[in-house]
Amino acid sequence: MKRKNFLIACCGTSTLAFLASCIKTYYATNTTTGNNIAVALSEFDEIKEGVKTQRPFVLVKNEQLPFPIAVYYNKEKSYTALYLECTHSGCELRPASTVLQCPCHGSEFSTQGKVLNPPAEKDLHQFPVTVSDKELFIQLPSL
Ligand code: FES
Repeated sequence: MKRKNFLIACCGTSTLAFLASCIKTYYATNTTTGNNIAVALSEFDEIKEGVKTQRPFVLVKNEQLPFPIAVYYNKEKSYTALYLECTHSGCELRPASTVLQCPCHGSEFSTQGKVLNPPAEKDLHQFPVTVSDKELFIQLPSL
């Protein structure tokens, strides 16, 4: 039995997503100007065994926010920025390449922020993202 199938049989897909999140979490370097966080698009680049690949998401920390933001790469010049606060009771979510999970009560969200599994009923907060040639900009709400 392959290791992946063994883990699914023993622990279920939720554990696999959690393990994947442990392995692939990357905090992107960013700069904040006013209410905009700038992240270089090159932060999504990853070199694996000498081959350039694209990270499915990066995490962004900002001192104005208690929780990080997960920025998912959708396709060419399209990104989704999700606030990692669970909409059920406010725990920090664990992002992975295909799903975001809550360690407190098991809610799951899609990489577009939609509720996939309760007890959460409300979708995740999403920040507007604009993209230039070399950077993306996450727009924070005015404080
Ligand atoms: Fe996330 Fe309860 S706080 S499911």
